[in-house]
Amino acid sequence: MEIRGISLSNGQSSVNSGFLLFDRGDYNPMMKKSIQKTVVFSLILILGLNMASEHSIIFTSAKENTFGLEEPKGIRLNIPDDPRSSMAISWFTYEFTETDINFGLSLGNLNQTNSFFTDTELVKDTYIHHIVLKNLSTNTTYFYQIGGPTSGWSDVYSFTTAPERNASSLHFIAYGDNRSDREIRRLINRAILQNSSSYHSEPIQFIMHMGDMVTRGEEHDLFNDYFDDSQMLHESIPLLPIQGNHEIGNLGKSYYREQFVLPENGNAEWYWALQYGSVFIMGLDSEAHGIIPYDTQSIPWMDSMLQKSHEDLSTLWRFAFFHQPPFVSSSHMPRIDIRDSWSPIFGDNDVDVVFNGHCHLYERSFPVSSNETLSSRERYNYNDPDYPIYIVTGAAGRGGPIDRLPDRENEYMVFSNFTWHYVDVFISNNLTNQKSTLMANVVGIIPQYFSNGSLNEFDLSHTVLLDNFTITKNIPGGWPESVQNVIY
Ligand SMILES: [Fe+2]
Repeated sequence: MEIRGISLSNGQSSVNSGFLLFDRGDYNPMMKKSIQKTVVFSLILILGLNMASEHSIIFTSAKENTFGLEEPKGIRLNIPDDPRSSMAISWFTYEFTETDINFGLSLGNLNQTNSFFTDTELVKDTYIHHIVLKNLSTNTTYFYQIGGPTSGWSDVYSFTTAPERNASSLHFIAYGDNRSDREIRRLINRAILQNSSSYHSEPIQFIMHMGDMVTRGEEHDLFNDYFDDSQMLHESIPLLPIQGNHEIGNLGKSYYREQFVLPENGNAEWYWALQYGSVFIMGLDSEAHGIIPYDTQSIPWMDSMLQKSHEDLSTLWRFAFFHQPPFVSSSHMPRIDIRDSWSPIFGDNDVDVVFNGHCHLYERSFPVSSNETLSSRERYNYNDPDYPIYIVTGAAGRGGPIDRLPDRENEYMVFSNFTWHYVDVFISNNLTNQKSTLMANVVGIIPQYFSNGSLNEFDLSHTVLLDNFTITKNIPGGWPESVQNVIY
């Protein structure tokens, strides 16, 4: 198949930091990633470059299939920049295969010629492939297939770019801690797919993951397994990840960073921010990634980004998510140090909801300040609350023990439950009534269907609504003017 849009802008390919890098446009390359180089990979690089220099078009004229025909595995989407105009597609193979894409606006016409950036890394025995698409159209569905003419092309998948800031709705999922038990985490992913329109008909636009997607971050195969199990979601729905303590790995050795392409406005993949529709989102690092104390860098950064988010007047909601919760009643104790250092910043900068994992349960707080002051005892429907609501969603799989409640419930806790679950969030912006409303539904997988560590007969419709609540924001004066690109 003819390849379009892949001629190098300067007629040259480049190799950077030991991994193959084809820059086919004016995109500023993403951060350098430290990977282990091998003699074998160097030989492959040389072969690839020879092919590139001979043809100026990468891999289109290979005379024979040198690299085999391995299909892309573990396909996932990430948001690398402004989600209205960019998307990252990553996958893995065990053989060296091409990192290329055909994409377009219809199934039968994958002819887009936008410049894009590709990166192939050898990590342990796995080739991780990344493609970053830029200059996409807002709120537009694209179809794509990945691979290459020599290696073979994948099936055709699709994704939709983010809408404008004043979009009328937003729909996303939050969950976490689905490490190690592949059967159950696949089941929960299927439940999300099957039930995605049960509460709101609009498609899910992204999925926040609270960390601990693998049990040991130093074992690269576990990441491959995870992406195999979650491709059913992330081939079309972007994953917003942060790392948990299990991603850190033994002695700080982890393959977490190599898996994703995320916004570069924070600190590598450790923490970052993006604006999706009317929502500002910060993905934060509660694990200090084993190197630098988290508060020396991330606190000034998050304070600055939250202040910038106020410059874009169309930002109606602010969310933060990270692994270890500052407010929780489980046998995993709350991170009081994070509560003391981060929660005042959330409160001062109008953060609405903080999502966490780590504790293997579902729990929701009242709107609560950093010193445990409650603004109200209302349990389900909030109107312009004074403080953030803290949600712990750390039971989207099995691997660690399900938590138990302590003898005494904390005053700030509204509800806690131990069922496998995910959180479905929908935001509706009503311009006529000058209100924006967040509706959260917590979908549980009924535990009776699990027995002796395996699944019994299970109908995916057998889910249960564990919790729901609403937050309404008043928008006096109608919809504000947008100030564009404050944080990118
Ligand atoms: Fe954890």
